[in-house]
Order: sequence, then structure tokens, then C-alpha cells
Amino acid sequence: MKYTFPESFIWGTATAAHQVEGNNNNCDVWAEEYSEGSPYKDRSGDAVDHYNRFKDDIKLMADIGFKSYRFSVEWARIEPEPGVYSKAQLNHYREVIQTCIDNGIKPVVTMFHFTSPQWLMRYGGWRNPETADRFAKYCEVVIREIGHDLDYVLTMNEANLPVMLKELFVNLEFVAPVGIDAKSWTAPGWRESAASKCGTTIDNYFTFHMASDDSSIQVVKDAHRKARTAIKKCNPTIKVGLSLALPEIQTIDGGEKNAEQAWHDYFTQFRSLFEDDDFLGVQNYTREVYGSSGALPVEEGREVTAMGYEYYPEALAGVIRRINGEISIPILVTEHGIATDDDSRREEFILRGLKGLYDCIAEGIDVRGYMYWSTFDNFEWSFGYDMRFGVIAVNLETQERTIKTSAKLLGEISQSNTLPQ
Ligand code: BGC
Repeated sequence: MKYTFPESFIWGTATAAHQVEGNNNNCDVWAEEYSEGSPYKDRSGDAVDHYNRFKDDIKLMADIGFKSYRFSVEWARIEPEPGVYSKAQLNHYREVIQTCIDNGIKPVVTMFHFTSPQWLMRYGGWRNPETADRFAKYCEVVIREIGHDLDYVLTMNEANLPVMLKELFVNLEFVAPVGIDAKSWTAPGWRESAASKCGTTIDNYFTFHMASDDSSIQVVKDAHRKARTAIKKCNPTIKVGLSLALPEIQTIDGGEKNAEQAWHDYFTQFRSLFEDDDFLGVQNYTREVYGSSGALPVEEGREVTAMGYEYYPEALAGVIRRINGEISIPILVTEHGIATDDDSRREEFILRGLKGLYDCIAEGIDVRGYMYWSTFDNFEWSFGYDMRFGVIAVNLETQERTIKTSAKLLGEISQSNTLPQ
């Protein structure tokens, strides 16, 4: 049997500005990294210096065989002060887009991937309804200036992640499923320090990651809708969507209510946000299994990834089937990945994930593309540089890139549009 994908299928990998560019020092996460008592294990620093090396990096992606690249443009660079738009930074991203096109790579652009300008905190961040208008304006400027050749734009990455992280900010005893040290996040002081680095005080400090209550979720929703309208105004042909972090939700006897609640929190409550979009970006890493007491720990003896997630590549197809059962919308897999130092586990993860994806398409589900997370081993937020998700390794001393076997596998799949036997 030959597993051949539709001809127009988009193959590639994904990154986010703060995680790869380096020296993104005007954003809130940078302030958090440098705050006193910071919960971040490392500081992003030069990251993988993609800001300066993007031309070689994109050429490398093309040499490997990838046909698309999902990356984010950085609000804190493009609008360094409220209402001030940097021509130099817009030119930078114009060049990134052009380099993709010159190398036969389709650029898929995310307008916002977790990091806000530090100045936004002075206005109350993602709690202030005006943030929706500021965000939409920024999107309008970007698309008007550099968005003419884009097919796919995501307004924001994982609009639902704050809901998943909610417990971290309210429950001291919370044991995060991914092994995040909740105590370091709830420890006093560091957020005051980050706020002061952003030129404000704690009562104003409200990052995207904190937007999990009803009124801030409303700000996030308004921001997406207004941005979508602004983007379409500048370029009506662009397909606009957003992405959600979506584990497959499974149940054992007695867990039905808890599982339903989780699906409601992660997906259903955001439905009105994306149901009129052109596509939905699906980002999947694992499954969550619910029993009568709530989410269950990974069953003993099951393989876990470096992040502590259950190794379960089939979750990708599982969650896509569930989405398709509830809403008819084209799907782009904008992230699917694994942190591991054993690249053969990554190869298997990709292959099993893609086999499931093939079956979904064969069943008639409209899946348009697959972008593995991530192109490079990069800055994994508070986990720092120890979590290696990339198909390309980077020596952080020399910035030398090394192509992993998984990159070659994905490159060959991308070129042949077919899974190996
Ligand atoms: C995020 C990425 C992150 C990845 C791996 C996703 O939630 O969009 O920024 O690096 O997961 O944890």
C-alpha cells in the first residue's frame, strides 16, 4: 500500500521568533527571564541566532526538502513603542518572506507567538480591552507592508494555552503534567521584578499566558476577530486562522464528566472564535486520559518524552477526528513534535503521526498540511535549552547546524509526498 498525500499538501517545520531569533530584548518574556527569582531555567540570549542567519537557515530547509516554513514575526521588534512601526524591522521580515519564496518554501506567518512588547504591560497587557485594537493595528501594518505574498496567516499561537496553564498561577500544590516546577512560578517577587523591568507595576502586569479568566479570554477573542478583519482588509485572499494546543482527550470509566470539562475548556469555549476562520491550526503533542478524579498520570511502564508527556503519536489523528466530528473547517497541523535526545524515537513519532494523518485524509477530512515542531533545537521557554524538539541540532557555542536523520526523513517525505514503506 502506498501512502500518498494530496498534491497540494504543505510539508515543513515551525519556529517562533523568541525561541530562535536571539536578543529579543524588548518583549515581556525577556523581562521575565531576567527578573529576580525568575522561573526560567535559562535565558534566551542569542538563541540560535536565526535573526542573523535566516538566509542560510532557509536555504538549509530547502536543501533538506522542506516546502514550507511556519515562523512568527515579533510584535516587540516591529512596534518598539506604541504606535511606532520600525521600517527596518518590517524590512527584515520582508526579506525573510522573500528568502522563503526564492527557495521554493511557502511562508506561513504567525503574528503573535506568546511574546508581547514590554510597553503593552504598561497598558495592562492582555487584561485591557484596548489591547485587541492595538493588536489589530499592528497586524494591519504588517500585512499592508509585507503581507502581499502570503497564503496562510495565524493571528495568534495557541489562544487556549493560558487556560491550560491556569492552575500554575492559582494553585501552589498543582503538579503540572509536563513537570513544570509550579512552585517557582507561584513564588513571590519575580513577577514584580519583571513588571518593573517593563516599566510598570504588578497591578498592570498581565501577560498573554495569564489570560485565562472570562474577561481576558474575551480580550484574546476580540484581538483575534479584529486582527482577522484588519488582515482581510489589506489582503482579502489570505487564509486567516489561529492555532490551539489540543491533546487528544481520552476517558476511562467514570471519567466522562472530567473529560468533557477538559474538552470544553480547551476547545468548545473557543469555538465561536475560530468557526468563521479559513482554517484551524492544530498543535498536538500527546493525549490526556481522564478518570473520576481528573487527569490521570501517565500509566506506569509507558514511554514518556523528555517533557514528561506520554509518547503517543496517534493522538494527532485522534484529536483531528474529534474536531472534524464537531465542526467542518480545513485543518493545518501547525505543530506536532517531541522533545528527545534519541532521534530514532522522533522518526517513529513523525511516521506514526503521519500514518494517522493519512488515514484522516483518506476518511475525507480536509487536512491541508503538516509542520513539525520544531525546525531547530531551540529555547523551550522556562525549560531553557535542555528540551530538544528540533530536526536540526544547533551547537550554541558555534551556532553550527547539524541535520538530524529525522530531518532527512521528513525532507524525503516532503519531496515524494509519500510515506516510506
Ligand atoms: C508552543 C511552542 C513550544 C512547543 C513545545 C507549543 O505549545 O507553541 O512554542 O515550544 O509547544 O512545548
